[in-house]
Amino acid sequence: MDKNLILEVKKKREFTELPDSLVEKALFLNKNDVKSTRAFLRKYFGVFLTNKVVKNKILSEGVLKSHISSRKRDYSELYSKILTHEKTIIDLGCGVNGFSYYFLKEVLHSVKYLGFEASGQLVGNMNLFFAENQFNATALHLDLFNLDEISNILEKQEKPRTVFLFQVIDALEKFEKNFSKKLLLVIAPLCEKIVLSYSLKSISGKSTFQTNRNWIKYFVEEHFQVIEELDLFDEHFIVLSYNKK
Ligand SMILES: C[S@@+](CC[C@H](N)C(=O)[O-])C[C@H]1O[C@@H](n2cnc3c(N)ncnc32)[C@H](O)[C@@H]1O
Repeated sequence: MDKNLILEVKKKREFTELPDSLVEKALFLNKNDVKSTRAFLRKYFGVFLTNKVVKNKILSEGVLKSHISSRKRDYSELYSKILTHEKTIIDLGCGVNGFSYYFLKEVLHSVKYLGFEASGQLVGNMNLFFAENQFNATALHLDLFNLDEISNILEKQEKPRTVFLFQVIDALEKFEKNFSKKLLLVIAPLCEKIVLSYSLKSISGKSTFQTNRNWIKYFVEEHFQVIEELDLFDEHFIVLSYNKK
């Protein structure tokens, strides 16, 4: 792959801090066409990087209300329903979820939060927020396709560990079909619980996606023990524990 093409795509502000590995994958999927690669990336990354999220540097829980994925959530309610006595939360494709650390603490009191995110701007903002508030939390700039790195980090964390995969499966599947299944099987033995979610509404708020998600439901039912399923804030949450068959 021509490194200059990656640099060309990354000239646009919203893509400057994406990992090269993701830009390279997007270029490959778009036959090295810079314009369509940017349009593709914008759909899965740029759309979440609104000025409010990136530019304004609001370093408070208020950010949660400006991000498309998190703005409808009542985090107090969500965390009290899905968490029990975790020592570590690993949030894959975390977006701005790190700004909900206070709500995690409300339920778990003492917990370490690790957020993995491709967008460098979001990672930077979350780390500033954590430092300002002296929270036991870190955001890591990482491509979720890097399974070795994810496993290495996961296995070093204090147990019990819960992994969040909130509204990230769509992006992963667009880059590589069935990658979410691979990811789930790699992380499953390394954590006690996985909570995955998908939106029940499109970004425009119109269509529902339920029928398109049957593949993931069948897959988790086959390989995992489904502890609980919840519909909250136009989002479907599935709480899983590993159940090797
Ligand atoms: C729809 S948003 C969801 C954010 C957050 N999980 C939530 O539900 O509030 C998807 C997030 O996953 C991140 N993401 C997508 N693919 C990724 C990858 N391969 N590596 C790291 N992050 C990724 C995007 O940057 C984006 O912030």
